[in-house]
Amino acid sequence: MNEQLELNEYKQQIADLYSRRGQTYDQGDWHPRIAHRLIEHAQISQGQHVLDIATGTGMVAIEAAQLVGFAGRVVGVDISTGMLEQGKRKIEALGLNNIELVLADAEKLNFPANSFDVVLCSSALIWMADIPNTLRFWHQLLKPGGLIGFHAFADTAFVGGVTVQKVAEKYGVSLALSKPTGTIEKCHDLLKTAGFEAIEIKSEQDGSYITLDSLEQAKLMCFGGSHPVPGQFPNPMKQLSSGQLEEVKAEFEAELAALVTEQGIWNDVTIFYTFGRKPISRSA
Ligand SMILES: C[S@@+](CC[C@H](N)C(=O)[O-])C[C@H]1O[C@@H](n2cnc3c(N)ncnc32)[C@H](O)[C@@H]1O
Repeated sequence: MNEQLELNEYKQQIADLYSRRGQTYDQGDWHPRIAHRLIEHAQISQGQHVLDIATGTGMVAIEAAQLVGFAGRVVGVDISTGMLEQGKRKIEALGLNNIELVLADAEKLNFPANSFDVVLCSSALIWMADIPNTLRFWHQLLKPGGLIGFHAFADTAFVGGVTVQKVAEKYGVSLALSKPTGTIEKCHDLLKTAGFEAIEIKSEQDGSYITLDSLEQAKLMCFGGSHPVPGQFPNPMKQLSSGQLEEVKAEFEAELAALVTEQGIWNDVTIFYTFGRKPISRSA
């Protein structure tokens, strides 16, 4: 299915990454839990038209479809065929017929303006190549008065990423990771600049103690060749020589080892559940 989409190298890397993860993505309770919280905060009602951006395996889209009922409609879009295939299997098993999952780039959608009552984006805004412009684009897709809602992770979240960021900076490499949406103020400004009003941001802590082994994903992202880095292409770590990369890796591991306590390593996961409305008076 990916051949129907023209993706640049950055997005193709993301699509491939998630297609590899598609079959196992639904394991564990973290993604379902925070996807469910986003839906809870959004207070979806019957009859609404909902767009689930970067739907993945359809966690948010499926729950939304159950809430909007027969009179409502949900569309989930994603660039990863592997994730969508998994989502489609779940939809078929549930017998839902008010939901469609579509292979599409969230930054280049073909829906008419003023199409949706609600646009949601769960755990994926960080992957957009141009967040400010993309929010303006999603604003156009909403009906006047419509609601946008997304997860943003604090710039303190995910100890692996924060530690790589800190070490890489010493070598002159700047990794954005969660920084573009990393504070409540930044989230607020992004929505305001994109034309939203009635902005509400709920900060929730979803952190836990983790083991060193569970930080393999962060290592892969920064030291693993073609792994995409959110919002930055090519991976800025490629600026480093192989010798420097080895040094960064060693420092990264030493920094993490120093954080180990009896309970494990504290992994902050502060999530900003960020919502805003398209003004009723302003045209798309
Ligand atoms: C962490 S997963 C989140 C999936 C789902 N929203 C959830 O909460 O479980 C990130 C998803 O973003 C998708 N994605 C990244 N960039 C995208 C883009 N430009 N357009 C559509 N989907 C995108 C990936 O393919 C992946 O499925």
